[in-house]
Amino acid sequence: MVVKMDYVDDLSDVIPNEALEAFKKLISRKNVGLACDFLMRHYRDEYWPRRTGSMPPLRKRLSSNVITLPKPKMMSAPISTVIINRRSADDFVNEPISIDDLATVLYLGVGITGWASAYGYDKYPLRAYPSAGALQPVEAYPVINNVLGLKSGLYHYDPFDHALELLRPGNYGSLMADLALGQDHVSRAAVIIVLTVVYARTYWKYWKRALRYVLLDAGAAMENIYLAATGLGLGVRAVGAFYDNELCNFLGIDCLSEFPVVMVLVGKGIYETYQ
Ligand SMILES: Cc1cc2nc3c(=O)[nH]c(=O)nc-3n(C[C@H](O)[C@H](O)[C@H](O)COP(=O)(O)O)c2cc1C
Repeated sequence: MVVKMDYVDDLSDVIPNEALEAFKKLISRKNVGLACDFLMRHYRDEYWPRRTGSMPPLRKRLSSNVITLPKPKMMSAPISTVIINRRSADDFVNEPISIDDLATVLYLGVGITGWASAYGYDKYPLRAYPSAGALQPVEAYPVINNVLGLKSGLYHYDPFDHALELLRPGNYGSLMADLALGQDHVSRAAVIIVLTVVYARTYWKYWKRALRYVLLDAGAAMENIYLAATGLGLGVRAVGAFYDNELCNFLGIDCLSEFPVVMVLVGKGIYETYQ
């Protein structure tokens, strides 16, 4: 690959010299991905939020087959205890969890916990997870394997009505394990919550910072789910290894405007590792 270094030097009015030097060093070592990321981090003109066009909608309705969830449970365990007790379950017992527990995990993970006036709206939602610009790119798709009172299948969580939309009934436990590179503990989780991000929501304001921000938002939502499940005495494990295209096909998303970030398994946990 040939990079015209004089072109890079032309950028010196917007990028500090040290950053340009580091960029050149990384490029000369053919570390193109890191070099571009490094340059972007120092490109001063790109730091500022810029809004282009109208704000992308926050709500995604995918099905009229809607099941309203029970109210989330409130937990009394101290947050310090929950954080210290949080561990990833090594495996899951093939047993059901209750719909109340699922409702609690979804609400404390990605639910609407407050309202504010923002972006010209009198009533603008705020979420359980912190979100860059409160733009809320995260969508949750629970794949239900074993939840009392719910048919197995692929669902989408609607935080506005605290409800599940049924997208596709069926038993998808072993398909999900295949999509997760054959990790068979995935098939034994009572529910696999796939967290995706709708890129345009964050990109609308944060442009080149958007990739970083949507991933951070999804990570915060993931940790909320970890803590909520731990507080309920359930097992939980993040799974980041999966085939993107196949998972997108299954979810019915395009992997560009919306893409999956992490699966979070929840169920009756088995712990072997760090005892
Ligand atoms: C982003 C991310 C991706 C992960 N991917 C996987 C995975 O694909 N499969 C798996 O079994 N565990 C996965 N884990 C769980 C980690 O292995 C686990 O968090 C780690 O061993 C530390 O253990 P602890 O969570 O009990 O502290 C992932 C965790 C994170 C945060």
